[in-house]
Amino acid sequence: MARPTAELRVLRYHPGRDASPYFQTYQVPYREDWVVLDALNYIKDQVDGSLTYRWSCRMGVCGSCGMMIDRTPRLSCATFLREFHPRTIWVEPLANFPIARDLVVDIGDFMDKLPRVKPWLIRRDPDPESSEHLQTPEQLEDYRQFSMCINCMLCYSACPVYALEPRFLGPAALALAARYDLDSRDQGRKARREVVAGPDGVWDCTLVGECTTVCPKHVDPAGAIQRLKLHSALQWARDVLVPWGRR
Ligand code: SF4
Ligand code: FES
Repeated sequence: MARPTAELRVLRYHPGRDASPYFQTYQVPYREDWVVLDALNYIKDQVDGSLTYRWSCRMGVCGSCGMMIDRTPRLSCATFLREFHPRTIWVEPLANFPIARDLVVDIGDFMDKLPRVKPWLIRRDPDPESSEHLQTPEQLEDYRQFSMCINCMLCYSACPVYALEPRFLGPAALALAARYDLDSRDQGRKARREVVAGPDGVWDCTLVGECTTVCPKHVDPAGAIQRLKLHSALQWARDVLVPWGRR
């Protein structure tokens, strides 16, 4: 009896060589326990060594294997073939980013934006030597969810605002700003506010929520952005009502 196969239609593009992106169809063995990344690795090893894509950990940790699978941003190491079998699986590079080659996108725009939100602990008060910043479990819980980001870029790929307005800082960068703003050891909210609530910041978000839907680590960037909006509105009201209290 013929062994079952799965069909993948994979977008190929080599900038500088190909006039435009095109789809190439591959047949791979179908196995219940195979994820899309297994199928791509089979193609690379057995069929077409020129196919280019990124991966590393194979366990949803490194964030490097994101791609459009069946028109949805997914991690290829966490998406099983059995979800789609027996129909064809469409595999494309993440939307909203320039294609570097085949399924690899250029995320330079995100890397440029990331430092603008100052994603590190900022201290105004000098730390006494040998001091510890103790944190209760409740204080940790305040920001823990927003610290789980693996920079996979699925949220940018799903975000209609980023698709239309690439200047938007975007879901993951803003979720990281919230992660540090909410950390009891941090004193940098004011330093981040200018960027977070500025022209490319939280107020661009129209609360579609697709970023949260596709996030494989349940970071909830949409929730983080709403919290940042609330803080920025409260701070604005404080500045207007108590201008002498501005710091
Ligand atoms: S917020 Fe979620 S979807 Fe966005 S980069 Fe981080 S882990 Fe990926
Ligand atoms: S290979 Fe690391 S997240 Fe998929």
